[in-house]
Formats: sequence, structure tokens, C-alpha cells
Amino acid sequence: MGKRVEDGGGTQVTLSCGFDANLAHYDRLTREEYLEETPHLKHAALRRLLRETARAVLDHAKRRAAQPHVLDLGAGEGSVTLMFLEEGAVVTAVDISPQRLAQLRERCSRFADRLRTVEGDALDAMNRLDGRFDVIVACSFLHHVPDYLSVVEKAKACLRPGGIFLVFQETPRYDTMRRLDYYFMKLAYYAWRAGKGRWGEWFRRFIAHRRGLLLEEDNVDYHLVRNGVDQFAICRTLEASGFRCQVSYYWSTMSRLWQWVGTSLGIRNTFRLIAVAPEGCERSWAVRS
Ligand SMILES: C[S@@+](CC[C@H](N)C(=O)[O-])C[C@H]1O[C@@H](n2cnc3c(N)ncnc32)[C@H](O)[C@@H]1O
Repeated sequence: MGKRVEDGGGTQVTLSCGFDANLAHYDRLTREEYLEETPHLKHAALRRLLRETARAVLDHAKRRAAQPHVLDLGAGEGSVTLMFLEEGAVVTAVDISPQRLAQLRERCSRFADRLRTVEGDALDAMNRLDGRFDVIVACSFLHHVPDYLSVVEKAKACLRPGGIFLVFQETPRYDTMRRLDYYFMKLAYYAWRAGKGRWGEWFRRFIAHRRGLLLEEDNVDYHLVRNGVDQFAICRTLEASGFRCQVSYYWSTMSRLWQWVGTSLGIRNTFRLIAVAPEGCERSWAVRS
């Protein structure tokens, strides 16, 4: 296990294993397996919300640049990158997994002239990339990075004035969620796991966490051991540099049935954050469900 540090939510996490664990996990996972566990790509309503968000963010960026430059952090198999390409952007996609990037290039091949891929750690990549971006996207990504506030800090420096930092599909800090939302989220997750016959896996993890131990897989999805991603710490980091932040909440879970039930009950367990760099213009970013 790696070095333990305090994160924004006051929870101890390990730093050094995140990269290797994510690389091993995402290089191994087939695209089908990935999509099965990815609510924002699996459920039509969430795909629609993501697409509408991408479109709105790019419309905003197009007021300043006819062909906005987008940096997609932890771009994975390319579904999010593809949305931005289809909306007319030039995209730089960063990921640590060569397998994922190969899939991404294949999926986005008809836009090859507007696509650049960078293999490596997102923070390293931002330190090395030239130029600044109109939009930086972190979709279902920050919870894979132990010190995600460093990523946010660096993203600020990589954005043009008026640029947008978009965070999509993150679980909020657990202690900021309504109890109903929190317990419903857990119920839906364990019920889905049970339906997959993965009780043993869950039980092993449950017991380890009760004893305060971290398992190898905890280095992939940090939010499970550090109680969510701290949306307020992200906002504070951005607002300290004059960004205007809007956080919206919605429901997402793996199972189709529980997705429908949770949506019908108005449960919220996931956030989207849109942050406009100084010199941006006013607009409202309400989530439409
Ligand atoms: C849950 S997937 C999200 C993929 C895509 N953004 C989406 O929304 O479908 C997380 C991705 O982040 C990548 N990743 C994890 N840690 C990373 C890091 N430190 N730097 C760059 N990519 C990383 C993984 O390889 C994986 O492809």
C-alpha cells in the first residue's frame, strides 16, 4: 500500500498506488464490461444529459473560438471525446491506459484530423501540454485520482480566460448527501451486485472497510474509501481564482431498474459541476431531467 495522506474530505487515502491500480484495471476491462458499469453511458437519459451539457458548454466556448479546443482528462474508451468531436471541437484526449486510447482512436477515427491522444497521467500531461484550452472535461475521472484537487488546481492554469471546467458523474461527499439519498444509493448498488452474483467480492470489501483496511481495488475507485468526492473543496479551489461554479445533482446507478426507480423518486447521488473562468459570461446551467 502507498503513503497515506489526508484528502479534501478529511479521510485518509493512499497516494502512490492509484496510477498502477487504474492502469491495470482499465487495461484489463473489456469495453462491454466497462459500459455495463457506467451509468452515464448505459442509461439513455444520462447520455442525453451529458450530450446536452457538452453542447451547452461548447456553445458557450464558441462565442470566443469558432472551433473550441477541449482537453478530455481520463478520456477512456472515447464516448465523451466523441460527443465533443461531433459537436465540432478539436479534442486532446488523455488517459493512462493504452488499451482505452486504442479504442478511443478507433471510435473517433472519422475525426482523426481534430483528435490528439496523449498516453499518461493527467496531471503530468497538463504540465507538459502547450497552449491553453477552451474547455477541460473530467467525466467520471476525479474519483480515480487521490489528490484530485491538484488536478483541479492545474486545470485552472490550462484554461483560457472565460474557459470552462466541466466535472460530470461524480459522487458527492457522503456527509453532504441527504440520508435518504445515501442509503438508497447503497441499497441500489448492493442489490445490483447481488443480482450479478458478486456477494463474495462485496462481503470481502465490506469486512475490510469495517476493519479500516484498504484493498488493492480501493486504489481504483477512491470515492468508496474516502466518502465521495468533495464538491465544495473543488468549488473553493476554483472560486479562489475567480471562477463561478454551479453544482447540480442527479441520480445515477448501474442497474436499469434502480435507475428508473431512483429517478421516479427524485433521489440524487451524483453531481455535475460547471465552472467558468474569470471573464466568462452569465448563464444558467440547471439540470433538466
Ligand atoms: C471511469 S473511466 C472514465 C472514462 C470516460 N471519461 C467516461 O466518462 O466514460 C476513468 C478513466 O480514467 C483513466 N485514468 C485513471 N487514472 C488516471 C490518471 N491519473 N491519468 C489519466 N487517466 C487516468 C482510466 O484509465 C479510465 O479510462
